[in-house]
Amino acid sequence: MSEKDQRWLATVRSKGDYREFVGPTDEYDVNGALQFSLLTSLGMRESHLMLDIGCGSLRSGRLFMMYLRPGHYCAIEPESWLVEAAIQNEIGADMVRLKSPAFYHGRDFSCRYFGRTFDFILAQGVFTHAPQQDIMLCMSEAAACMGKTSLFLATFMEGDHDYDGRDWLYPSVSRYTWRRIRQMTEGAGLRHVSIPWSHPRGAKWIALSRPEREPGMRDLVGGLPSRRPCSRVALGTGLTTSLRRRILGR
Ligand SMILES: C[S@@+](CC[C@H](N)C(=O)[O-])C[C@H]1O[C@@H](n2cnc3c(N)ncnc32)[C@H](O)[C@@H]1O
Repeated sequence: MSEKDQRWLATVRSKGDYREFVGPTDEYDVNGALQFSLLTSLGMRESHLMLDIGCGSLRSGRLFMMYLRPGHYCAIEPESWLVEAAIQNEIGADMVRLKSPAFYHGRDFSCRYFGRTFDFILAQGVFTHAPQQDIMLCMSEAAACMGKTSLFLATFMEGDHDYDGRDWLYPSVSRYTWRRIRQMTEGAGLRHVSIPWSHPRGAKWIALSRPEREPGMRDLVGGLPSRRPCSRVALGTGLTTSLRRRILGR
Protein backbone atom coordinates (compact mmCIF):
# COMPACT_ATOMS: atom_id res chain seq x y z
CA MET A 1 0.00 0.00 0.00
CA SER A 2 1.34 3.44 -0.87
CA GLU A 3 2.37 5.92 1.83
CA LYS A 4 -0.42 8.21 0.64
CA ASP A 5 -3.01 5.44 1.17
CA GLN A 6 -1.57 4.63 4.59
CA ARG A 7 -1.77 8.29 5.64
CA TRP A 8 -5.37 8.52 4.41
CA LEU A 9 -6.33 5.37 6.32
CA ALA A 10 -4.67 6.57 9.53
CA THR A 11 -6.46 9.94 9.31
CA VAL A 12 -9.92 8.53 8.62
CA ARG A 13 -9.55 5.86 11.32
CA SER A 14 -8.38 8.43 13.87
CA LYS A 15 -11.32 10.75 13.02
CA GLY A 16 -13.66 7.75 13.27
CA ASP A 17 -15.25 8.89 10.00
CA TYR A 18 -17.23 5.74 9.23
CA ARG A 19 -18.94 7.32 6.19
CA GLU A 20 -15.79 8.62 4.50
CA PHE A 21 -14.03 5.29 5.07
CA VAL A 22 -16.28 3.54 2.51
CA GLY A 23 -16.23 6.27 -0.16
CA PRO A 24 -17.08 9.91 -0.93
CA THR A 25 -19.54 11.10 1.73
CA ASP A 26 -21.81 12.87 -0.79
CA GLU A 27 -22.45 9.46 -2.40
CA TYR A 28 -23.11 7.53 0.81
CA ASP A 29 -26.89 7.61 0.36
CA VAL A 30 -27.10 6.92 -3.37
CA ASN A 31 -24.41 4.23 -3.40
CA GLY A 32 -26.34 2.29 -0.76
CA ALA A 33 -29.63 2.88 -2.56
CA LEU A 34 -28.22 1.56 -5.86
CA GLN A 35 -27.09 -1.65 -4.17
CA PHE A 36 -30.49 -2.12 -2.56
CA SER A 37 -32.42 -1.36 -5.74
CA LEU A 38 -30.25 -3.76 -7.77
CA LEU A 39 -30.87 -6.73 -5.49
CA THR A 40 -34.58 -6.03 -5.16
CA SER A 41 -34.80 -5.60 -8.95
CA LEU A 42 -33.20 -9.03 -9.26
CA GLY A 43 -35.97 -10.51 -7.16
CA MET A 44 -34.84 -10.24 -3.54
CA ARG A 45 -37.76 -10.80 -1.16
CA GLU A 46 -37.93 -10.34 2.59
CA SER A 47 -37.72 -14.10 3.13
CA HIS A 48 -34.35 -14.37 1.37
CA LEU A 49 -31.06 -14.88 3.19
CA MET A 50 -28.30 -12.41 2.43
CA LEU A 51 -24.55 -12.22 3.01
CA ASP A 52 -22.93 -8.78 2.65
CA ILE A 53 -19.16 -9.27 2.25
CA GLY A 54 -17.21 -6.17 3.33
CA CYS A 55 -20.36 -4.45 4.60
CA GLY A 56 -18.38 -1.42 5.83
CA SER A 57 -20.53 1.04 7.75
CA LEU A 58 -23.81 -0.54 6.57
CA ARG A 59 -24.17 1.95 3.70
CA SER A 60 -26.55 -0.49 2.04
CA GLY A 61 -26.77 -2.88 5.01
CA ARG A 62 -29.07 -0.47 6.84
CA LEU A 63 -31.59 -0.74 3.96
CA PHE A 64 -31.29 -4.52 3.60
CA MET A 65 -31.60 -5.04 7.34
CA MET A 66 -34.83 -3.05 7.46
CA TYR A 67 -36.26 -4.97 4.47
CA LEU A 68 -35.29 -8.55 5.34
CA ARG A 69 -36.88 -10.68 8.04
CA PRO A 70 -35.10 -10.98 11.40
CA GLY A 71 -31.96 -13.09 11.18
CA HIS A 72 -31.77 -12.86 7.38
CA TYR A 73 -28.95 -10.28 7.09
CA CYS A 74 -25.42 -11.63 7.64
CA ALA A 75 -22.26 -9.64 7.02
CA ILE A 76 -18.46 -9.84 7.05
CA GLU A 77 -16.43 -6.76 7.96
CA PRO A 78 -12.88 -6.86 9.37
CA GLU A 79 -13.00 -3.21 10.50
CA SER A 80 -15.49 -3.85 13.31
CA TRP A 81 -15.49 -0.17 14.34
CA LEU A 82 -17.37 0.64 11.11
CA VAL A 83 -20.25 -1.62 12.10
CA GLU A 84 -20.25 -0.30 15.67
CA ALA A 85 -20.31 3.32 14.45
CA ALA A 86 -23.13 2.56 12.02
CA ILE A 87 -25.19 0.91 14.76
CA GLN A 88 -24.65 3.93 16.99
CA ASN A 89 -25.21 6.66 14.39
CA GLU A 90 -27.33 5.19 11.60
CA ILE A 91 -29.62 2.40 12.75
CA GLY A 92 -29.65 2.27 16.57
CA ALA A 93 -29.61 -0.66 18.96
CA ASP A 94 -33.37 -1.24 18.51
CA MET A 95 -32.87 -2.22 14.86
CA VAL A 96 -30.24 -4.75 15.95
CA ARG A 97 -32.61 -6.14 18.59
CA LEU A 98 -35.51 -6.35 16.12
CA LYS A 99 -33.58 -7.67 13.08
CA SER A 100 -30.89 -9.85 14.72
CA PRO A 101 -28.16 -9.34 12.10
CA ALA A 102 -25.10 -11.63 12.30
CA PHE A 103 -21.56 -10.27 11.86
CA TYR A 104 -18.17 -11.89 11.35
CA HIS A 105 -15.12 -9.66 11.71
CA GLY A 106 -12.37 -11.81 10.12
CA ARG A 107 -10.30 -11.08 6.99
CA ASP A 108 -10.38 -14.64 5.63
CA PHE A 109 -13.67 -14.37 3.65
CA SER A 110 -15.05 -17.19 5.76
CA CYS A 111 -18.55 -17.22 4.30
CA ARG A 112 -19.03 -20.68 5.83
CA TYR A 113 -18.77 -19.14 9.30
CA PHE A 114 -22.56 -18.60 9.25
CA GLY A 115 -23.35 -22.22 8.29
CA ARG A 116 -26.03 -21.13 5.82
CA THR A 117 -26.80 -21.21 2.11
CA PHE A 118 -27.47 -17.67 0.92
CA ASP A 119 -29.98 -16.54 -1.72
CA PHE A 120 -28.00 -13.34 -2.32
CA ILE A 121 -24.35 -12.56 -1.69
CA LEU A 122 -23.02 -9.04 -2.22
CA ALA A 123 -19.42 -7.81 -2.41
CA GLN A 124 -19.64 -4.12 -3.28
CA GLY A 125 -16.32 -2.27 -3.28
CA VAL A 126 -14.27 -5.33 -2.32
CA PHE A 127 -12.82 -6.71 -5.59
CA THR A 128 -12.18 -3.05 -6.50
CA HIS A 129 -9.35 -2.96 -3.93
CA ALA A 130 -8.37 -6.61 -3.54
CA PRO A 131 -5.40 -8.55 -4.89
CA GLN A 132 -6.09 -11.62 -7.03
CA GLN A 133 -5.57 -14.17 -4.25
CA ASP A 134 -8.27 -12.46 -2.13
CA ILE A 135 -10.73 -12.39 -5.01
CA MET A 136 -10.17 -16.09 -5.71
CA LEU A 137 -10.55 -16.96 -2.02
CA CYS A 138 -13.69 -14.86 -1.72
CA MET A 139 -15.23 -16.46 -4.83
CA SER A 140 -14.51 -20.01 -3.69
CA GLU A 141 -15.76 -19.32 -0.14
CA ALA A 142 -18.92 -17.76 -1.55
CA ALA A 143 -19.41 -20.68 -3.96
CA ALA A 144 -19.48 -23.05 -0.97
CA CYS A 145 -22.50 -21.14 0.40
CA MET A 146 -24.48 -20.90 -2.83
CA GLY A 147 -27.36 -23.10 -3.92
CA LYS A 148 -28.82 -23.71 -7.37
CA THR A 149 -30.68 -20.38 -7.46
CA SER A 150 -28.25 -18.19 -5.49
CA LEU A 151 -26.84 -14.97 -6.95
CA PHE A 152 -23.56 -13.30 -6.00
CA LEU A 153 -23.36 -9.63 -7.03
CA ALA A 154 -19.95 -7.99 -7.06
CA THR A 155 -18.23 -4.89 -8.40
CA PHE A 156 -14.79 -4.59 -9.93
CA MET A 157 -12.76 -1.89 -11.70
CA GLU A 158 -12.07 -2.65 -15.33
CA GLY A 159 -8.53 -2.05 -16.62
CA ASP A 160 -6.20 -2.88 -19.52
CA HIS A 161 -3.94 -4.90 -17.23
CA ASP A 162 -4.43 -7.12 -14.20
CA TYR A 163 -3.19 -5.89 -10.82
CA ASP A 164 -0.62 -8.48 -9.78
CA GLY A 165 0.45 -7.11 -6.39
CA ARG A 166 -0.26 -9.05 -3.20
CA ASP A 167 -1.50 -6.08 -1.14
CA TRP A 168 -4.98 -4.76 -0.55
CA LEU A 169 -5.11 -1.20 -2.02
CA TYR A 170 -7.16 1.41 -0.18
CA PRO A 171 -8.54 3.88 -1.06
CA SER A 172 -6.63 3.31 -4.34
CA VAL A 173 -8.15 0.70 -6.61
CA SER A 174 -6.97 -2.54 -8.17
CA ARG A 175 -7.99 -3.07 -11.81
CA TYR A 176 -8.67 -6.23 -13.79
CA THR A 177 -9.49 -7.25 -17.34
CA TRP A 178 -12.76 -9.02 -18.10
CA ARG A 179 -10.64 -11.99 -19.19
CA ARG A 180 -9.04 -12.35 -15.73
CA ILE A 181 -12.38 -11.90 -13.97
CA ARG A 182 -13.80 -14.73 -16.09
CA GLN A 183 -10.82 -16.98 -15.31
CA MET A 184 -11.17 -16.37 -11.57
CA THR A 185 -14.94 -16.93 -11.69
CA GLU A 186 -14.53 -20.21 -13.55
CA GLY A 187 -11.71 -21.24 -11.20
CA ALA A 188 -14.22 -21.05 -8.35
CA GLY A 189 -16.65 -23.29 -10.27
CA LEU A 190 -18.98 -20.37 -11.02
CA ARG A 191 -19.95 -18.35 -14.08
CA HIS A 192 -20.87 -14.72 -14.42
CA VAL A 193 -22.71 -12.19 -16.53
CA SER A 194 -22.16 -8.46 -16.75
CA ILE A 195 -24.95 -6.49 -15.09
CA PRO A 196 -25.79 -3.14 -16.70
CA TRP A 197 -26.36 -1.21 -13.48
CA SER A 198 -25.21 2.24 -12.39
CA HIS A 199 -22.22 2.79 -10.14
CA PRO A 200 -21.19 6.25 -8.90
CA ARG A 201 -17.45 5.39 -9.20
CA GLY A 202 -17.72 3.73 -12.61
CA ALA A 203 -17.18 0.19 -11.28
CA LYS A 204 -18.61 -2.74 -13.26
CA TRP A 205 -21.29 -5.00 -11.79
CA ILE A 206 -21.20 -8.77 -12.29
CA ALA A 207 -23.61 -11.50 -11.16
CA LEU A 208 -22.05 -14.87 -10.36
CA SER A 209 -23.98 -18.10 -10.09
CA ARG A 210 -23.48 -21.83 -10.13
CA PRO A 211 -23.34 -23.05 -13.75
CA GLU A 212 -26.63 -24.92 -13.46
CA ARG A 213 -28.59 -21.91 -12.17
CA GLU A 214 -32.23 -21.74 -13.18
CA PRO A 215 -33.61 -19.41 -14.44
CA GLY A 216 -30.76 -18.63 -16.84
CA MET A 217 -28.53 -15.61 -16.25
CA ARG A 218 -29.33 -13.94 -19.58
CA ASP A 219 -33.03 -13.81 -18.66
CA LEU A 220 -32.02 -12.24 -15.38
CA VAL A 221 -30.26 -9.31 -17.06
CA GLY A 222 -33.13 -8.82 -19.53
CA GLY A 223 -35.50 -8.39 -16.60
CA LEU A 224 -33.68 -5.39 -15.14
CA PRO A 225 -35.55 -2.08 -15.36
CA SER A 226 -32.57 -0.13 -16.77
CA ARG A 227 -30.09 -1.52 -19.28
CA ARG A 228 -28.02 1.64 -19.61
CA PRO A 229 -25.18 2.02 -17.11
CA CYS A 230 -24.61 5.54 -15.85
CA SER A 231 -21.37 6.60 -14.20
CA ARG A 232 -22.58 9.94 -12.84
CA VAL A 233 -24.46 10.31 -9.61
CA ALA A 234 -27.79 11.92 -10.39
CA LEU A 235 -31.15 11.74 -8.76
CA GLY A 236 -33.04 9.10 -10.65
CA THR A 237 -29.93 7.21 -11.78
CA GLY A 238 -30.83 3.67 -12.74
CA LEU A 239 -34.57 4.34 -13.11
CA THR A 240 -36.48 3.74 -16.33
CA THR A 241 -37.90 6.87 -17.95
CA SER A 242 -41.43 6.04 -16.86
CA LEU A 243 -40.38 5.33 -13.27
CA ARG A 244 -38.28 8.51 -13.16
CA ARG A 245 -41.29 10.52 -14.41
CA ARG A 246 -43.56 8.88 -11.84
CA ILE A 247 -41.19 9.40 -8.93
CA LEU A 248 -39.48 12.66 -9.84
CA GLY A 249 -42.06 14.22 -12.18
CA ARG A 250 -39.51 14.75 -15.00
C1 LIG B 1 -15.21 0.38 -0.38
S1 LIG B 1 -15.64 -0.34 1.15
C2 LIG B 1 -17.28 -0.90 0.74
C3 LIG B 1 -18.14 -1.12 1.95
C4 LIG B 1 -19.59 -1.53 1.63
N1 LIG B 1 -19.65 -2.74 0.85
C5 LIG B 1 -20.29 -0.40 0.94
O1 LIG B 1 -20.61 -0.52 -0.25
O2 LIG B 1 -20.51 0.61 1.59
C6 LIG B 1 -14.70 -1.87 1.22
C7 LIG B 1 -14.89 -2.61 2.52
O3 LIG B 1 -14.24 -3.89 2.43
C8 LIG B 1 -13.70 -4.17 3.70
N2 LIG B 1 -12.66 -5.23 3.63
C9 LIG B 1 -11.31 -5.08 3.55
N3 LIG B 1 -10.70 -6.28 3.56
C10 LIG B 1 -11.68 -7.21 3.67
C11 LIG B 1 -11.69 -8.63 3.77
N4 LIG B 1 -10.54 -9.35 3.76
N5 LIG B 1 -12.87 -9.27 3.89
C12 LIG B 1 -14.04 -8.56 3.89
N6 LIG B 1 -14.08 -7.20 3.82
C13 LIG B 1 -12.93 -6.54 3.70
C14 LIG B 1 -13.18 -2.83 4.16
O4 LIG B 1 -12.93 -2.80 5.55
C15 LIG B 1 -14.30 -1.90 3.72
O5 LIG B 1 -15.27 -1.74 4.71
